Amino acid sequence: MDYQPLLEHIRQEIEVYAHDGKQADYIPALANVNPDQFGLCLNILDGRTYHLGASDVKFSIQSISKVFSLAVALSLLGKELWQRIGKEPSGTAFNSLVQLEYEHGKPRNPFINAGALVTADVILSLIDNPKEFFINFVRTLADNPDINYSEEVTRSELSCCNLNASIAYLLKHHGNLHNDVHDVLDFYCTMCSVEMSCEDLSRAFMAFAKSSQPFSHAGVNLSISRVKRINAIMQTCGLYDESGEFAFLVGLPAKSGVGGGIVALYPSRYSIAVWSPRLNSKGNSIMGMKALELFTSETEESIF
Ligand code: DON
Repeated sequence: MDYQPLLEHIRQEIEVYAHDGKQADYIPALANVNPDQFGLCLNILDGRTYHLGASDVKFSIQSISKVFSLAVALSLLGKELWQRIGKEPSGTAFNSLVQLEYEHGKPRNPFINAGALVTADVILSLIDNPKEFFINFVRTLADNPDINYSEEVTRSELSCCNLNASIAYLLKHHGNLHNDVHDVLDFYCTMCSVEMSCEDLSRAFMAFAKSSQPFSHAGVNLSISRVKRINAIMQTCGLYDESGEFAFLVGLPAKSGVGGGIVALYPSRYSIAVWSPRLNSKGNSIMGMKALELFTSETEESIF
């Protein structure tokens, strides 16, 4: 099948949503992004690649980085990681503090901010040059040496991260952060600041879509069963308190970020990344979700 005509059709169909929502502005640097942009890249595992719109424009991946940090932390700590982080959907916002208090400092899953602060802590404890190691891993997955952190976005988020700092202090209080809180926040915000295009993200997530092969990239090694588990958590927790709706509408494991990116995959078939900065109230890209819903509905290619 040639997917290009379908992608062009989807682009037209979603145009009615072009001005709904707005870009994230609680991180000052993200408020400056032109919200009226849309990109998409589809990689079929047989080698075909399709592009639409601004597929080569880099944007802030934000929480999509949590999949990469989970992969690194799981490869380092193995199943011990699940003593420090759960694997259930939270049903709360990505930066919620409430549940963490009554669950005694054990984050519900690795994709809410609390969980990703713990994966950041694991990496800081066990890797000598964590920032270099992490960016090298992402560059290797995407096969693009030009992927970088944005110092501006890191600084901007660190200047106003009181909520994440509160989460980190609560984790520390419960003994679930081993490093200095400021070091963990700095590394966490640095990982969130990585800038990638839809082409980079779609290519990087092919490694998770190739779920019948062991994962071994830039010193990160995961068995087939561990990749299955990462994909399962994307399915149940990847879009925060909208994960159920996303499963219902789209039906693929996926991860979103407040930069407006969403990357999704169909194990052993394809990976697809979309980007459009205008978000809904849950922090997920409106046009991105619509495009993915139309894609899996029209192709009848979802995992369900
Ligand atoms: O910690 C934060 O709030 C951001 N660096 C990342 C949040 C995010 O991307 C949530 N995604 N929808």
